[in-house]
Amino acid sequence: MKFRRLGRSGLQVSELSFGSWVTYGNQLNKNAAKELMAAAYDAGVNFFDNAEIYAGGQSEELMGAAIRELNWSRMSYVISTKFYWGLSKGPNQVNTLNRKYLMHAIDASLKRLQLDYVDLVYCHRPDPHTLIEETVWAMSDMITRGKALYWGTSEWNADDIRAAYEIAERHHLHKPLMEQPQYNLFHRRRVEKEYARLYDEIGLGLTTWSPLASGLLTGKYKNGVPSGSRAELPNYAFLREGLLDPAKNTAVTKLQSIADELGCTLAQLSIAWALKNPHVSTVITGASRPEQLRDNMRACAVADKITDELRQKIEDTAGFFE
Ligand SMILES: NC(=O)c1ccc[n+]([C@@H]2O[C@H](COP(=O)([O-])OP(=O)(O)OC[C@H]3O[C@@H](n4cnc5c(N)ncnc54)[C@H](OP(=O)(O)O)[C@@H]3O)[C@@H](O)[C@H]2O)c1
Repeated sequence: MKFRRLGRSGLQVSELSFGSWVTYGNQLNKNAAKELMAAAYDAGVNFFDNAEIYAGGQSEELMGAAIRELNWSRMSYVISTKFYWGLSKGPNQVNTLNRKYLMHAIDASLKRLQLDYVDLVYCHRPDPHTLIEETVWAMSDMITRGKALYWGTSEWNADDIRAAYEIAERHHLHKPLMEQPQYNLFHRRRVEKEYARLYDEIGLGLTTWSPLASGLLTGKYKNGVPSGSRAELPNYAFLREGLLDPAKNTAVTKLQSIADELGCTLAQLSIAWALKNPHVSTVITGASRPEQLRDNMRACAVADKITDELRQKIEDTAGFFE
């Protein structure tokens, strides 16, 4: 496993990381979650991604319990959480990045995770109803109070990220460091175009999500929804239409031929393609089974085989630029 700096910071994150969205609490109990974390850690992963909203807080509880049982040294891993949607109903408790919510949310997350601090904390979505300045102050205070080490955003637009950075600079606050956008062969525009100026201008780091587009880029949705997959889960039915998209599944079949020529799986090819983008600090992978995780971790070796020419061929074959 190789390590990359997270944006302009000195923090090193493994180029492949592991996240718990959908899986923890929905498909995996504590022992299964622990088994996957141990396998990722043994493969060299040091960054584990989580969020308050995942499985209504259960994902943080499972990850926290697993880490405690695995008895990892706190220096050996980087862990995140994210805030926006909230876990309770009522004013100041849902869909907000206001100071009151954020200050409560971090304390509750730390309790569920059984930790004194998280390494990375994200504003999980933009909040159009709270001034960016209020959110920047609250996120910076979280760091000053020792509850998180670095903060960033997820799916914010480039102008808002830039505005948050400038507010922090003007007031000598902790600046946003990283963004967590979706990035895969079918979803590229934001990372490659919209954020392009931010990599040099503010040293933005990227922890990218859904490298397999929820499993579409493994080829498993070519003949419908496979049993045991996330698309079968009632709460994730909203993913089905995208996963069964005929044009994308046709592209997947063509991409499979490139993977075959290269002697790797389509999952490895897709993850390796994302790794080839030098602005990506870490590709957050997901898995509901140990064999998937083992398959995905081998993508690092595949990335070494992807030349510029092959990368272009992969992108042309995928054919989408969304
Ligand atoms: N910031 C955000 O808004 C945001 C949003 C989404 C995700 N994330 C983060 O990014 C992480 C990764 O996202 P993701 O889970 O959507 O990643 P993904 O790589 O696109 O999808 C992972 C899923 O694909 C299937 N899969 C994985 N490897 C496979 C393989 N080798 N062969 C066959 N199937 C395979 C599994 O689903 P099945 O159970 O269906 O087999 C697995 O759970 C999340 O855990 C989370 O930490 C962040």
